[in-house]
Formats: sequence, structure tokens, C-alpha cells
Amino acid sequence: MKKVRKAVFPAAGMGTRFLPATKANPKEMLPIVDKPLIQYAAEEAMEAGITDLIFIIGRTKRAIADHFDKAYELEVELEQRGKLKALEALRGMLPAGMNCIFIRQAEALGLGHAVLCAQPAVGDEPFAVILADDLIDAQPGAIKQMCEQFDYYQSSVVGVETVPPEDTGSYGIVSTDVMTERVSRVNRIVEKPKPAEAPSNLAVVGRYILTPRIFHHLKHIERGAGGELQLTDGIAALLKEQQVLAYAFEGQRFDCGSKLGYMQAQVDFALKHPEISSAFKAWLTERFCGSCKES
Ligand code: UTP
Repeated sequence: MKKVRKAVFPAAGMGTRFLPATKANPKEMLPIVDKPLIQYAAEEAMEAGITDLIFIIGRTKRAIADHFDKAYELEVELEQRGKLKALEALRGMLPAGMNCIFIRQAEALGLGHAVLCAQPAVGDEPFAVILADDLIDAQPGAIKQMCEQFDYYQSSVVGVETVPPEDTGSYGIVSTDVMTERVSRVNRIVEKPKPAEAPSNLAVVGRYILTPRIFHHLKHIERGAGGELQLTDGIAALLKEQQVLAYAFEGQRFDCGSKLGYMQAQVDFALKHPEISSAFKAWLTERFCGSCKES
């Protein structure tokens, strides 16, 4: 039985919706309260027992590699100043035994191409793909839930959620045959269909477990929606020869690639953050709910 040990984090997109913040920094480095999105994604993978973290980096390549590198000078400085809590947060980022691999996608040709860039590091085994800008607040994490499905079915799994029908043009959309409460078999997948042409309103969000056969198909796809090499088109080809499952994960997703979703995540996570939750809640109540009483 095969296990998922590797995760790919595509982080070489243009991030145009967040310019100018993403001019010199990838959007995956945008923080939610005090941690960048990419760190939440790495933690989600590690929770699922994944040991090899493969980052696909682009134009703004330094930031992510620096974030996961050991920062000796900073650690010494924090120790000397007695800032032990901050030191602990830094040291706990990557437990022993984790491997970080950084691969350059020289040109942002699309998510399918970004995933293909990971092939030399993934090799011939199943792997996870995590899009850090889809932040999923879940217990256990979405990738852990999906790895459990992979362990059972031994086939590719895409994370899905229902979206408003008018939003299909922003997602890969699947049509499926229901198998269990949360699992269904994908029979069609299309990238960014107009609402009138969408086979459903079940959208693939940024979590995938894929068999290595996907690489064969990614090598043969042509430019699709938006002129990009789309992972969805690779999965559509994979579907013709292997079962692909859709899994409706438990948890709340925030689309942190959009300004609105990003701000919603900030508020939600701040309201749960041990250091600031009560002060932030008090401020929000005073600022926006002057006359209403707390229940
Ligand atoms: P998006 O579709 O969100 O595109 O990519 P984007 O370029 O990052 O952002 P906008 O739309 O211009 O604001 C989905 C994921 O795929 C990665 C992105 O980094 C993001 O995690 N990606 C996309 C790549 O790594 N390479 C690419 O060529 C395209």
C-alpha cells in the first residue's frame, strides 16, 4: 500500500490580484496574523505525516527559501535578548526529519506546469498538492482528511466544496457520482466554465492527492483557460485511465488569493489567536457594534 510522503506547494504565480504587495514577495508569504500562508500550508502537510516539502518558487524566489532556512543570527540575537517565546516559535517551525526542496519555475506558465516542475523531486509516488492561498481551517487538516481517503481507495483525490453557481468561472468544476457522504467519483472536470456551461457547482479548491501518472498527462496538455497550462486539464486526461475521487473536506476555506477572502481569514484567525483574541473582539465590538450588547 502506498503512502503520501511528499507535498508540492506551487508558489510561483504572478499574484496580480495582490499587487503591489506581491511585487517583491510571493502572495504565499502574506501573513494571517503572525504566520505567512505558506507556513500554515506546511503545517497542514506535516500534520498529515508528510516529510518532504517541495516548494515551486518563481520570480520572488528568495522569500520562501529564506523563511524555511535556519536563521542562526536571528536565533542568537533573540536568545541574548531573552525573547524565548519568539525563539521557540522559530525553532519549532520545521521539526527534525523534514526535508525542504526548492524548485524554480522560470516562467509562470500555469499551475499544471508548476506541478510538472516537481516531478524530479516527487519521482514515482503519490503526492499532495497544496495551494497555500486556499487557507483551510480544519481539525484534522484537509490534507490529513484526504490522505485517509487515499490510504483507503489508493486513487487520486481532489478537495471540493460547493460554490455559488455564479462563481464557477473562478474554479475547476467537477461532475460526480456520489459514493459516500463526502466521497464521490469524478466523471468530468473543466477549468473555469461559465455558469451556463458548468456541469455543477462543485468546485475543486487548492488540495489534491495525485498519483505520479499525472506527470505523463501534464507533459502532453496544451494551453487551456487563460492561456495557461492547467492542472485541471491534466486531471481530465488522468480520469480517462484512472479513478479520481472528489472529497468534500470538513472545514472552513478562505480564498486568500482574493482581498476579501484574505481579510475574512485575518478576522477569523485574529478572533482565535491566543494573544489577541479578547482585545481584538472588544475592539471590533466597540468599533462596529457600539449599541449592540454581547450575547
Ligand atoms: P492563481 O490562479 O491564484 O494565480 O494560482 P496567481 O498568479 O498566483 O494569482 P493572480 O490570479 O494573478 O492574483 C494558483 C496557485 O498556483 C500557483 C500560484 O502561486 C498559486 O498558489 N501558480 C500559478 C504557480 O506556481 N505557477 C504558475 O505558473 C501559476
